[in-house]
Amino acid sequence: MTEISDLEAKLAAAVLDAADIAALEAVRVSALGKSGSISDLLKTLGSMSPDERRAHGPLINGLRDRIASAIAERKTTLEAAELDAKLTAEHVDLTLPSAPERRGRVHPTMQVLDEMIAIFAEMGFGLAEGPDIEDDFHNFTALNFPPKHPAREMHDTFWLPPDINGERKVLRTHTSPVQIRTMQRTNEKLPSWIANGQEPPIRIIVPGRTYRSDSDATHTPMFHQMEGLVIDKAIHMGHLKWTLETFIARYFETPLVETRFRPHHFPFTEPSAEMDVRCDRSGGEVRIGQGDDWMEIVGCGMVHPKVLRNCGLDPDVWQGFAFGFGIDRLGTLKYGMPDLRDMFASDVRWLEHYGFSAFAAPNPATGLS
Ligand code: PHE
Repeated sequence: MTEISDLEAKLAAAVLDAADIAALEAVRVSALGKSGSISDLLKTLGSMSPDERRAHGPLINGLRDRIASAIAERKTTLEAAELDAKLTAEHVDLTLPSAPERRGRVHPTMQVLDEMIAIFAEMGFGLAEGPDIEDDFHNFTALNFPPKHPAREMHDTFWLPPDINGERKVLRTHTSPVQIRTMQRTNEKLPSWIANGQEPPIRIIVPGRTYRSDSDATHTPMFHQMEGLVIDKAIHMGHLKWTLETFIARYFETPLVETRFRPHHFPFTEPSAEMDVRCDRSGGEVRIGQGDDWMEIVGCGMVHPKVLRNCGLDPDVWQGFAFGFGIDRLGTLKYGMPDLRDMFASDVRWLEHYGFSAFAAPNPATGLS
């Protein structure tokens, strides 16, 4: 059977000659594929007599097995060589700088909010929240805004279209409605995260979004407020003043920021005041703590007896104070941003400049920011 041994010699040489996996695969197909040389030989067995088949069968099958294992062996060798080549060619250079990657920044409003929460938490204030879409009762009536009084328009209110009951809800114009939601002991069914009837003594802060149809360098239609409410026995203006002054010194991280209380009017506090901080507006930028100008940063006052009564509290037993900060405005003052509207412009370059690292979480023990 020289035909078989010739074929075997030829195929064995081709297997050893195959320089890579692709060449080896071509040899395999030419020998063992559907119409490969060995497959053709195997097909001839079918037309042989039993005697011939007994003689030729083992020879052809032996050829097939030897070539198949030669191919497998060569394949292992070639694969190992290919891996070796790859490992030498593609080594990792650990000294190269890593690929640049865009990192998110914490928005200044959120940073300031966290700073405020940290400071007030240290003073023993808890957190409460309320809904952005309010009813007239919580936003105005219970806060002692008289019906049809122009004060309801003082806030440039965004009114929603009447609902099926003809009631017009509002986008809350301040966080003060959460005072009502907190003090009222009988409250409607509300989601559990919404402040719901606490017994006095009460000591809460209320951060949240607020809305007024207003837009200039120091006003935006949506902004953030932080309400504060303290209800206890024998609470007076001195407590209010101390709380706000202590907060300001902690927040601006200096005792040198000068403040002043100016009489004001809010329907829900009596007496009412606004607190200003000394600042300098010359040169287009507001600088805090110097100069001879003042900037209003918080409205405040003693909770009006009518508001206490509206919430079922006896003003002869319980008194308290409330205040409302503009969170974004406090941020522009501390971090020197000339225009409040930039806070909401969603400009990534601005955020990269003014934003904070996610690891700079404010902590009164280690510093604020
Ligand atoms: N709600 C008032 C405002 O938005 C601020 C305020 C809060 C005043 C609490 C007094 C007490 O202007």
